[in-house]
Amino acid sequence: MNSFNVEQIRNDFPILKREARQGVCVIYLDSTATSQKPVQVIEAMNDYYRRSNANIHRGVHTLAEEATTLYEGARERIAKFINAASSREVIYTRNTTESINLVAYSWARANLKAGDLVILTEMEHHSNLVPWHMLQMERGIELDFIPVTEDGLLDLEAYKSLLDRRPKLVSFTHMSNVLGTINPADEIIRLAHDAGAITLVDGAQSVPHLSVDVQALDADFYAFSAHKMCGPTGIGVLYGKSALLDAMPPFLGGGDMIKEVKLRSFRANSLPHKFEAGTPAIAEAVGFGAAVDYLSAIGMERIAAYEHEITEYALDRLEEVPGVKLFGPSADKKGGVAAFTLDGVHPHDVAQILDQDGIAVRAGHHCAQPLHEKFGIPATSRASFYLYNTKDEVDMLVNGIYKVKEMFG
Ligand code: ALA
Repeated sequence: MNSFNVEQIRNDFPILKREARQGVCVIYLDSTATSQKPVQVIEAMNDYYRRSNANIHRGVHTLAEEATTLYEGARERIAKFINAASSREVIYTRNTTESINLVAYSWARANLKAGDLVILTEMEHHSNLVPWHMLQMERGIELDFIPVTEDGLLDLEAYKSLLDRRPKLVSFTHMSNVLGTINPADEIIRLAHDAGAITLVDGAQSVPHLSVDVQALDADFYAFSAHKMCGPTGIGVLYGKSALLDAMPPFLGGGDMIKEVKLRSFRANSLPHKFEAGTPAIAEAVGFGAAVDYLSAIGMERIAAYEHEITEYALDRLEEVPGVKLFGPSADKKGGVAAFTLDGVHPHDVAQILDQDGIAVRAGHHCAQPLHEKFGIPATSRASFYLYNTKDEVDMLVNGIYKVKEMFG
């Protein structure tokens, strides 16, 4: 593909051709929740089940070897996609949430004690809050938060002051799922390292939309999910520097994560298998590999540039609508997310009325209740954009909001 041809891309996504109801097209503006899947991913998984299905690492027969090659081949391509130094540093998990929990259970329980400080931010998804709340209750660790400014950015001066308290871990989102803010991950990580802290990045929203290089960022841990980047549900990744992962105790115990088991003891397997107990999501790994191939063939820089154009257009158009209040920074500092409120109308009503025209947006707190509390609102409506969305769809969203306003007088 030489130029970014959105119509050609849309042809790859069968679901975009269906109707929401008779005569009403699907306008899918909820990719922050989960992305749609191209036919290349659907077919890769279909082929796997039709041709190669077997358990991995467990048989010498042809199918088992083929399944293992496909599963490990996908890992190699995912490692390359984020520029990990080695595929040993790419651990398959169920999703970003499980990746963060893996760090909280394995690294943190081995390394943190009562009184140790973990720094998070006020814009975290619940999945980067609750595991640390649980550790706080269990271990007595301390939590503190980088504040979010009125315009939806992290307050880096406040962060620098927090670092004077010598935290053990700084865990933060690379891109907010509500505000869309793209945080300066390289700077946050560099400052954390200068203060002697380990870093964990929630990349659920960044890896699908930006070109991410974990080595250039110098991230210690980096978590993301396949389903938000054109891949299937049920599989994600924890990237970790091998020195850290090697030193960590296993997370779950069972088959595949061991070298040897005796009645009263076991020896853990080497990376990455040490953290992959039990039969994993094999077909999903195949689909994940196909998703990475799909995005790589288009090019992450081009995807980011196209999404930026759509986001800029969407923010401009939404700003024109009287009564719409947008949350988050300007388009140059954010990804394709537009969370908004509409005066006098509950966000759920906005989403429900838009749905009558086939327009899919999410309404609620988007698993970021503390962030909504910070802005003094219980919920927002959220439109989000990906490589297959168009300016026409943004226009339909804006027309839909005008319709909501009419209905509510
Ligand atoms: N984290 C996903 C969202 O923001 C589910 O919608």
